[in-house]
Amino acid sequence: MEIKIEPMSQSDLEKSAELTLEAFGKQGLGEPWTLDTARKHELEVFNTKYSYKATEGGKTVGVIVALPVTYELGTELFIDTIAVAKDKRGRGIGKILWEKAAENAKQKGLVGVRLLGNPKLRSFKWYQKEFGMHPSGWVELTNHF
Ligand SMILES: CC(C)(COP(=O)(O)OP(=O)(O)OC[C@H]1O[C@@H](n2cnc3c(N)ncnc32)[C@H](O)[C@@H]1OP(=O)(O)O)[C@@H](O)C(=O)NCCC(=O)NCCS
Repeated sequence: MEIKIEPMSQSDLEKSAELTLEAFGKQGLGEPWTLDTARKHELEVFNTKYSYKATEGGKTVGVIVALPVTYELGTELFIDTIAVAKDKRGRGIGKILWEKAAENAKQKGLVGVRLLGNPKLRSFKWYQKEFGMHPSGWVELTNHF
């Protein structure tokens, strides 16, 4: 079936939260996400001008949730979430979502793409091989109260 790429709206965030949970929750990467924390996260980072969904037969099968953030060389597209449904991976959907979001960002005058990768995920090498991404040198630190 044909894959369509369309801008995301707020009503797509439920699906985006489900895909986040599937990719990074207990059944995926193994982090303790819940549908509730995934919903909040997606709502906080969502920007309709920079985020896209992939649909197949009217069903959302992948999302890229991204927003513009300014760094030392100008405003970049920060990709917060890129996730494709487990049974749809490896068919090029992630690539077309990425290309659409990057092309849109370029048209809007943004100067690059940035994201947080995780070496435990296959996507970590994929970004570097497929899209020429490279480690920035910054390492994310966190602490919980
Ligand atoms: C990363 C992801 C969005 C790519 O989407 P996709 O539609 O599968 O990607 P494409 O088919 O365009 O590209 C193939 C790449 O996707 C990844 N991929 C392919 N099949 C996969 C699978 N069954 N499981 C996990 N990753 C897969 C691989 O990195 C692959 O590249 P490789 O074959 O060189 O290793 C998707 O696989 C996914 O949702 N993975 C889990 C979530 C994730 O890692 N998100 C990024 C976090 S920073």
